[in-house]
Amino acid sequence: MFRKPTVLVIAASLTLLGASAASAAPLQGTPGAPGIGDPYFPLDGNGGYDVAGYDLDLKYDPRTDRLSGVTVVTAKATQNLSAFNLDFQGLTVRSIAVNGQPATWSRNGGELTVRPKAVLARGGTFTVKVTYDGVPQTIGDPLLGISGFIHTDDGAIVAGQPDVAATWFPSNDHPRDAATFELSIAVPTGTEAISNGVLLGRTTASGWTTWNWRAAEPMATYLATLAVGQFDVSQYQADGIRFWDALDPDLYDMPTILDPYDPDPPSLGEIAAGSLARQPEIIDFLEGFAGNPYPFTASGGIVDDFEELFFALETQTRPVYSPLFFQFDALNGDLVVVHELAHQWFGDDLRLNRWQDIWLNEGFATYTEWLWLEREGLITVQEIFDIITAIPADDEYWDVRTGNPGPADLFDFEAVYERAGLTLHALRLEVGDTKFFRIVDQWTATQSGDTVTTTEFIALAERIAGRQLDSFFRQWLFTAAKPASLGYGNATAATAAVPGHAWPGEAAGRK
Ligand code: TRP
Ligand code: ZN
Repeated sequence: MFRKPTVLVIAASLTLLGASAASAAPLQGTPGAPGIGDPYFPLDGNGGYDVAGYDLDLKYDPRTDRLSGVTVVTAKATQNLSAFNLDFQGLTVRSIAVNGQPATWSRNGGELTVRPKAVLARGGTFTVKVTYDGVPQTIGDPLLGISGFIHTDDGAIVAGQPDVAATWFPSNDHPRDAATFELSIAVPTGTEAISNGVLLGRTTASGWTTWNWRAAEPMATYLATLAVGQFDVSQYQADGIRFWDALDPDLYDMPTILDPYDPDPPSLGEIAAGSLARQPEIIDFLEGFAGNPYPFTASGGIVDDFEELFFALETQTRPVYSPLFFQFDALNGDLVVVHELAHQWFGDDLRLNRWQDIWLNEGFATYTEWLWLEREGLITVQEIFDIITAIPADDEYWDVRTGNPGPADLFDFEAVYERAGLTLHALRLEVGDTKFFRIVDQWTATQSGDTVTTTEFIALAERIAGRQLDSFFRQWLFTAAKPASLGYGNATAATAAVPGHAWPGEAAGRK
C-alpha cells in the first residue's frame, strides 16, 4: 500500500528546515497491519516493518517453569508508523521502550499493539525493547498433540509450527520475515541450555549459568528453539560445519521396542546417538541431491527424553527430535534425521512466503527419505511411487489438495508429505532425470536465503522443462483427486543416479 506523496514532501522539507522543524507539523503515520497478509493465518506476522534481528536475554527456572527477560527487536519501518503490532501470546509485559523511549501498549489475544512516543519514519531503523515474564503456554492440538513451549521434568523444549515463537518472545511471527538471532539464557548451574546456531560461550555467577547462542544466518521465527534440562552436549566439526548435539542422558535408560531376540538390545539413546553420528554423511548425501552445499555454518540435533512430543521439527541448524523416532531400529532414526536435515534447505534456507505452500517443505523432505531408502538398497523411489499410486482413485487418500490443503489440514500426512513427494517424483518422470535435478539445483541455488512460492517453483520447472506444465501441476497439486496421468509416458527415472551419488548399488553393498 502506498501513501500519497504529500507526507514525503513534508518530511523532506522538514529536514531542509533543520532547526525550525519543531514548529512544523509532526510526521504523520498510520498503524501497521495486525497481520502480514497470509490468507491461511490472517493475524500471523504484522505489517509496517521488517525485522533485522532479535536479541533475547532470558532466564528460565525449571523449578517454577517461569521465563523472564528482555527481547530487543531491531526492525526497519516500511511505512510511517504511528503504532505497530508484535505477536505475543500469554506472558506478562512489564515495560516497552521504542528507541529507548518508554512506549504505551495494549493487548488483544495474540496481538500486542505498541504506540511509540513519536511516529517512526518509513525506511528508518528502530528498536523495540520488551521486558516480560511468566509461565509460557504450551500449544495443544487434538491431532498433533502438544507443541510449542513444552515444560519437561527437568526443563523445557521448544518446537512448534506454524505458531510457537509468540508464546516465548514478541515477534513478527511469520516465515516471510526472517531475522538473525542472539539468545542468552540463564539457567540454574548444572543445567544445559541449547539453542540455534553457534555457542559463543558460557558464564556462571551466583548459581546461574548463562549460555550465549548466535544464529547469524537469518531464520524464520518458528525455527527458533530452546532446550533446557540435563543434556550430554557434544561439539565437533565436520566438513567445515560446527555441530552441537544434545542428548538427554536418560535416553540411555529407555528401551527400544524391536527385535525381542537381540540378547543385548541397544538403548534408545544408543540408536539416537548412532543416527546423529551419521549427520555429516547425511548432509553430504543431501548436498548431492540439492546440488548445493549445506546452507548454514552450524548443525546438530536435540533429543530430550520427553515421550509426549510426537514430532520432529526442522529448527534451523539444530532440529528437535521426539525420542519416539529412535525407539525402533537405526533406519527409522536415520530417516528422521534425513528428513529434518533436508528441511535445512527446503523450509529453512528457502522459506515459505505463505503457509499454503507447505508441500514445498514437506514434499522435498519426504522425497529425500525415499532417496535414502533407495541408497540403502532397501526399496527404490519408483517402487514407493508404484505402491502408493496403486491406491484406487475413489479412496479418500486423494481428498485433500496438496497445493492448497487449507489451514486445518496444513500437516495432513497423505496430502502434504506423501503426495507432495509423489508430485516431485511424477515431475521427475515427466521431465526426465537431467532436467529434474537441474530444477532442484536451480531451486536451491537461486532461492537461497529467500522466500519461495509454488508459483515460482512451477515457473522454474517450466523454464527448465522448456514447456508448459500447467495441466501436470493442476492435477498433482490443485485437484482433490488422483491424477489421471501418472507420468509413465516419459519414464526414465527409475534406475538413474543422482549427480554425485551412485545408488542404489553402492549402498546395497555397504549394508
Ligand atoms: N514440520 C515437521 C516435520 O515434518 C512436523 C510438524 C508439523 C511439527 N507440525 C508440527 C512439529 C508442530 C512440531 C510441532 O518434521
Ligand atoms: Zn517435515
